Amino acid sequence: MKILITGGTGYIGSHTIVDLIENGFDVISVDSYINSDGSALQGIEAITGKKIKNYKVDLRDKEATENIFKENPDIEGIIHFAALKAVGESVEKPVLYFDNNINSLINILDNIVKYDVKYFVFSSSCTVYGSPEKLPVDENTPIQEAESPYGRTKQVSEMIAKDVLQNTGVKAVMLRYFNPAGAHESAKMGESPALPPLNLVPIITETAIGKRESMMVFGDDYDTRDGSAIRDYIHVMDLADAHTKSLQYLINNPDAPKYDYINLGIGQGVTVLEAINAFEKVTGEKLNYSIAERRPGDIAAIYADYSKAKKLLNWNPKRKIDDIMHTAWEWEKVRSKK
Ligand code: NAD
Ligand code: WQD
Repeated sequence: MKILITGGTGYIGSHTIVDLIENGFDVISVDSYINSDGSALQGIEAITGKKIKNYKVDLRDKEATENIFKENPDIEGIIHFAALKAVGESVEKPVLYFDNNINSLINILDNIVKYDVKYFVFSSSCTVYGSPEKLPVDENTPIQEAESPYGRTKQVSEMIAKDVLQNTGVKAVMLRYFNPAGAHESAKMGESPALPPLNLVPIITETAIGKRESMMVFGDDYDTRDGSAIRDYIHVMDLADAHTKSLQYLINNPDAPKYDYINLGIGQGVTVLEAINAFEKVTGEKLNYSIAERRPGDIAAIYADYSKAKKLLNWNPKRKIDDIMHTAWEWEKVRSKK
């Protein structure tokens, strides 16, 4: 079955492509390279032995996007990763974020309907829940006012996809990721963004390798067990596996709801200081960090109730924070030599 991966040379897209290929899917990719240098294509080939075709297209370009479907009328499913994802940048450039993330989605949805694509999987985010009142967060947790234009694009995208797809034969799931991190176990592929990373794990590995002199822990006065903020870090290969299982679920369950939301986290909250300790323990490296003010917009704690993913997708995350730190570090050492 042919699957189109949008954002396929990006972080989560490239890892998912590997998992899809290993599960027998035929994959093509489209990526504008706005946040990737395309090197993931070599990583995918090195791991799977398969050369993937990537269309270098900005999905806001209606004509170029439709041409992909004209050339590949046998696309049966789409996993739509392509989006800009930097929360802070979205506050500075809201129009860019709405233009990129929403118009790309609209063009993809338009072609899904026109070219009779059957299955749609969308990259949403736990950011739709804002600062939840109750933990862990399940899919019935009320959606809160978005804390950034980026978060708003995810909320609005979920709604647009629902409106467009509800009167069609397309089956869809919206996957709400918590905090993806880590790299492929082979160290042949990992996070390789064109723009400087802003997330905790790549900042830890970049500090340890010496790309950054030091790093900050944003806040040690939260109401948590050690004062630092709690997140649910999910290994990128467990996340990739959940995408493959989502497609298989849609394909094998004709009676599945037309449209659903599924949390993807591992259900365990880890504090920033625990994450740093895990890194130091697993790698033997000493990290240069200091305690700083809370980062504006951050919440104290969030982690997932993933029982729906377990039940519907038969998905069980296999990796924990130590595996995340180990694989991220092995990848950082390879990447820094390139
Ligand atoms: P990424 O930036 O590594 O990958 C996204 C890819 O999409 C990039 O390669 C980029 O070049 C491409 N892209 C962006 N706009 C495009 C456009 N208009 N046309 C074509 N290509 C375009 O990010 P990622 O971490 O792999 O995230 C993938 C998806 O998951 C995104 O939708 C993101 O919002 C979502 N998500 C990510 C996280 C996270 O922490 N990484 C958490 C929750 C949700
Ligand atoms: C994790 C924790 C920081 C950097 C973001 C998006 C969210 C989703 C996932 C896309 C926080 C702390 C970080 C540093 C630190 N993405 N930290 N020092 O903010 O939980 O979530 O990515 O949908 O929408 O908001 O992830 O990795 O930035 O931070 O102390 O240098 O690490 O304060 O507590 P976050 P993160």
